[in-house]
Amino acid sequence: VEVPVGRWADAISVRRSRRAFDGVSVAGDLLDALDEVCRSFRPFPEVRTVLLSDAPADIFTGLVAGLVGSYGRVTGAPSALLFIGVPGPKTPERIGYTGEGAVLEATALGAGTCWVGGAFDRRRAAGLADLAEDERVFAVSPVGTPLAPPAATERLLFGAGKEKRRRPLDIIAPGREDWPRWAIAGVEAARVAPSALNRQPWRFSLVGGDVLLKHAGPDTPGSSKRLDCGIAMLHFEIAAHAAGSEGAWGPGVDGTLARWAEPG
Ligand SMILES: Cc1cc2nc3c(=O)[nH]c(=O)nc-3n(C[C@H](O)[C@H](O)[C@H](O)COP(=O)(O)O)c2cc1C
Repeated sequence: VEVPVGRWADAISVRRSRRAFDGVSVAGDLLDALDEVCRSFRPFPEVRTVLLSDAPADIFTGLVAGLVGSYGRVTGAPSALLFIGVPGPKTPERIGYTGEGAVLEATALGAGTCWVGGAFDRRRAAGLADLAEDERVFAVSPVGTPLAPPAATERLLFGAGKEKRRRPLDIIAPGREDWPRWAIAGVEAARVAPSALNRQPWRFSLVGGDVLLKHAGPDTPGSSKRLDCGIAMLHFEIAAHAAGSEGAWGPGVDGTLARWAEPG
């Protein structure tokens, strides 16, 4: 399975979650291109991404118990991605990794997206995807043309604020000043990955030339930190390869989630 490194590296730097769309169907050639990537970018057999060209508005329920405000309220999205997997020990991170491929491709094609892990109708989504008996919808995302927000809102929510809405690199990768250039590029790309509630649970360390990834604190079933970490793994991989690494993710050691090792 090929990761289009340059194309998705550019998408990493411009992606941001979008929740208000114009309600207009996305161009057919964009949908075809995105659908093709959903079908071909399938690194793990138990996980897949399905593009719904016509997404019923009532998939996005906009209610996360215990949260106030507009979190999770998605409006006017003509299409959607469904992130589907067979539950298993590695499924959450594999959903994150695989689904983010589709999100970055949608971004590269000029569409807006937003991972939605809580505020969607699971039964409705499952009914639209022709699920196998053991499959489950872990998360969804709208796909469409975002409403151009008023300039002031844009500045407030994004713009210069984006940097501040991320944890310092010293927290997610302590000691990185001494790391190889590709590893620094990797954690910088992981840092801007989307995560549920923007909690950024990923923590990186360099041990014996390998990069180890774990999540901060215990996992939270229902909205898995491992899924967030899977998203960050794809971001790391893209930037590390763009910076000359030839490594790959493998199983974690010493209780970590995953280990990045250079060949040989
Ligand atoms: C697994 C996952 C679940 C998410 N669930 C929701 C959600 O239910 N509602 C919502 O509005 N945003 C959701 N988000 C989007 C995050 O709030 C967003 O990624 C984070 O605040 C960082 O902002 P950014 O994506 O613009 O960089 C989710 C993101 C991830 C990765």
